[in-house]
Amino acid sequence: MSASEPSAAESEDAGHPGARGAGRTPLVAGNWKMYKTEAQAESYIQGLLPRLSSVERVDVAICVPFTDLRAMVDSTRGSRVEVFAQNMHEEAEGAFTGEISAPMLSEIDVYGVVLGHSERRALFGETDRALAQKVPAALAAGLTPILCVGETEEERDGGDTERKLRHQVHEDLAAVAPGDLQRVVIAYEPIWAIGTGRVATPEQAQEAIAFIRALLSDRSVAPAGDPEIAARVRILYGGSVKPENAQELLALPDVDGALVGGASLAPESFAAIVAAAEKALA
Ligand code: PGA
Repeated sequence: MSASEPSAAESEDAGHPGARGAGRTPLVAGNWKMYKTEAQAESYIQGLLPRLSSVERVDVAICVPFTDLRAMVDSTRGSRVEVFAQNMHEEAEGAFTGEISAPMLSEIDVYGVVLGHSERRALFGETDRALAQKVPAALAAGLTPILCVGETEEERDGGDTERKLRHQVHEDLAAVAPGDLQRVVIAYEPIWAIGTGRVATPEQAQEAIAFIRALLSDRSVAPAGDPEIAARVRILYGGSVKPENAQELLALPDVDGALVGGASLAPESFAAIVAAAEKALA
């Protein structure tokens, strides 16, 4: 990063256990979706934390339902697990019944937020136009956004994967201030691989993620487009990641971690994926 002043959130990041200069610390994030009451979340975290005690080089996150946030923030304090929400509204406050804002999340020490998950896009009308506001709103509140992008099976079969990824990256990051891009995490999740057991091949994952990284270095696509900044953005793979396939995926040169759905719901399998990420670094 060159001239721009580090923001408050960037200074905070510098103190985060996993941060390591210009390198990209791998991130393994578990997306619980609409699973786990607070009592179930507590019992999960008591099972997870001891299993992570020897993890040193991988950042770990759990993306939990709103009602679990405060309990998980309290229970993970002092550990390497960061707590993320799964959605937020783009405005800081207002007459938006049922919505939650970025300042509400950051006030209770939530670390970040998943934005644009394909389930939100497909089932709840999430639009690229809203995401273009949500990403900078999250950053402004000091949250780390995990922005999800990815193509449908039809788009892949029709040779439209790159067009779709270019469109999503271009639209969703359009209002990110220069200097903030490296605080965004991107998750490449081919929609046909989510919850289906059909994981992308290593070649497919590497190719799509390298393409996203190339988009980030292009000023006409990403606001702060610059190869040096693009090289610092963490890009995760998501879609049917399991303990059995994690190491191969996470060893790919451009893959900086995983967004894990189903296999994150049990502490044993989630910890095994974190361990695979550590191994892949070796
Ligand atoms: P999956 O979900 O690991 O169950 O395929 C991934 C996701 O939705 O983020």
